[in-house]
Amino acid sequence: MKKMMQAIEVPAPGAPFELVSRPVPEPATDEVLLRVEACGICHGDALAMEGTYPGLTYPVIPGHEVIGTLVEMGSLASFTWRPGQRVGVGWHGGHCGQCAPCRRGDFWHCDHVQTTGLTRNGGYAEYLVAPANVLVEIPEGIPSREGAPLLCAGNTVYAALKKSGAKGGDLVGIIGLGGLGHLAVQIAKNLGFRTIALTRGREKAALAKRLGAHHVIDTGGESAASELKSLGGARFMLCTAPNSRLIAELLPGLDRGGKMTVVSFSRGMIEIPHALLLGEAITLEGTAGGRMEEALRFCEMEGILPMVEEFPLSEAPEAFRRMMEARVHFRAVLTMGGDHE
Ligand SMILES: NC(=O)c1ccc[n+]([C@@H]2O[C@H](COP(=O)([O-])OP(=O)(O)OC[C@H]3O[C@@H](n4cnc5c(N)ncnc54)[C@H](OP(=O)(O)O)[C@@H]3O)[C@@H](O)[C@H]2O)c1
Ligand SMILES: [Zn+2]
Repeated sequence: MKKMMQAIEVPAPGAPFELVSRPVPEPATDEVLLRVEACGICHGDALAMEGTYPGLTYPVIPGHEVIGTLVEMGSLASFTWRPGQRVGVGWHGGHCGQCAPCRRGDFWHCDHVQTTGLTRNGGYAEYLVAPANVLVEIPEGIPSREGAPLLCAGNTVYAALKKSGAKGGDLVGIIGLGGLGHLAVQIAKNLGFRTIALTRGREKAALAKRLGAHHVIDTGGESAASELKSLGGARFMLCTAPNSRLIAELLPGLDRGGKMTVVSFSRGMIEIPHALLLGEAITLEGTAGGRMEEALRFCEMEGILPMVEEFPLSEAPEAFRRMMEARVHFRAVLTMGGDHE
């Protein structure tokens, strides 16, 4: 009889999560099977419900912040990986290795790219099969529960901050203190930036300071951009808040020649006065993803971990709802912990 596992599936576009029992998948020669220990819940998982993501088919198991232990590997995968190793699987779920982008080393733009939890099953499950060449080994100092969100949330903001062009002591603003933002404040401070947390209201001000912010600015009023200017203007801002109007409001808070990188997603339009773009020579860009290995090593070295709320797999629907309403402090993580031997 086939060994079974519990998983959360989206059965069809727009349908709610369903707790189901499925056979434990078997790895192909170049794949591995991991026993999932923890899987973070990210806004990107909402795409599994929308049904418009290219290559997405149903049913699908969401989840792309996965840490687990290797239990089985295909014959080719066994050259590089051993049972018992603790590994992570992020958003990037596979590439062909043969097309022109792959030959350039640009796996994210592979002609046959796979996305974990969207075009192949993800980590809202007790077991997961993944291609051996997308795995990252988890450093010893990173626990699975807190480590899982580093694979997307942490990785994304680390990569954006590293590419920011900001130098030690430069004024750097982090917009929105949620899953991504509360990691970004810690990382920015540890990269040596004068870090400003930009958050709605005063509720999270003390927390922002504890995370390392040198200044906290309330984005709820009208004066956030002028407060930034009075501190000298931000060399760089990282926007994690899904609000295009807020982006437009805060852009004038950049120093001349400054840059804002947007990692958040909203369906709105960003209106920028022409005079600001040219007159102040500012740059606005969007970015996604990054190299998981580097972010993990940095976070281990500096002792940076997310604050998480833990939920069992069966409570994924509630955890997801809370995440969508920005009510989680600050990343929801599903843990399968030991109850699926
Ligand atoms: N580019 C990528 O590769 C990538 C990867 C992962 C996630 N994302 C995107 O990044 C964004 C943030 O993800 P997250 O997990 O950090 O979300 P989150 O935990 O909900 O945090 C977002 C924060 O933004 C602020 N915010 C939320 N709604 C707002 C609104 N309407 N107006 C102003 N501020 C608002 C809130 O901060 P305050 O309460 O402090 O104001 C909130 O805590 C999402 O859009 C997600 O899709 C992108
Ligand atoms: Zn994500």
